[in-house]
Amino acid sequence: MKVLLVNGSPHQKGCTYTALQETAEELQRQGMETELLWLTTKAVPGCMACGACWTSGQCVRGDLVNEVLARLDEFDGFVFGSPVYYSGPSGQLCSFMDRLFYAGGSRMAGKVAASVVSCRRGGATESFERLNQYYLMNNMILPGSQYWNQIHGNSAEEARQDLEGLQTMRTLARNMAWILKCIEAGKKAGIPLPEQEQKTFTNFIR
Ligand SMILES: Cc1cc2nc3c(=O)[nH]c(=O)nc-3n(C[C@H](O)[C@H](O)[C@H](O)COP(=O)(O)O)c2cc1C
Repeated sequence: MKVLLVNGSPHQKGCTYTALQETAEELQRQGMETELLWLTTKAVPGCMACGACWTSGQCVRGDLVNEVLARLDEFDGFVFGSPVYYSGPSGQLCSFMDRLFYAGGSRMAGKVAASVVSCRRGGATESFERLNQYYLMNNMILPGSQYWNQIHGNSAEEARQDLEGLQTMRTLARNMAWILKCIEAGKKAGIPLPEQEQKTFTNFIR
């Protein structure tokens, strides 16, 4: 079973990376394969709402979004990590996830997802909740931890001093690995994913 961890910070090895790395190492100890994807410092364009992905399954803007979409079926789980910017996730990560989920959300059903956030001081829970919205409307399964998945610091060195934050990441990883193993065992025992009805779209009253 494989988990993709996405670092949505422009810092390749900063606080968000520290939290993701702690999560990845514990996932590996629990027998999971992991891959880390860094969004780099390049601008990540936002969704143009052109709707082309509804038929093609790909984003017209290309880049890393299409690379992940092409490999989506390889991953059983995802961890999206972000620094907190003014009480929200980074713009880069939101742009990336807007396009990834608009194009590939229906293929996320039954996969396991979690968010981790890093901040100096405040805004972690708002950012955490914002990221969780992507999974909760795409039939994904969210493992919890012993606290909300946040780490505190302004540098990797400071984040490594947040012992409770690091422990929260390890607990998250163990819960995630356990759920993934349960899903796998369920599939082998002949328990399929829940049936999905044809989606009904109503714009308020119609
Ligand atoms: C534009 C910007 C906005 C920020 N806003 C917040 C904030 O609202 N709350 C906070 O605690 N830290 C804030 N920070 C600090 C970062 O969230 C914090 O340093 C984070 O851990 C950095 O993670 P990274 O090393 O992975 O980039 C902000 C930093 C930047 C650059």
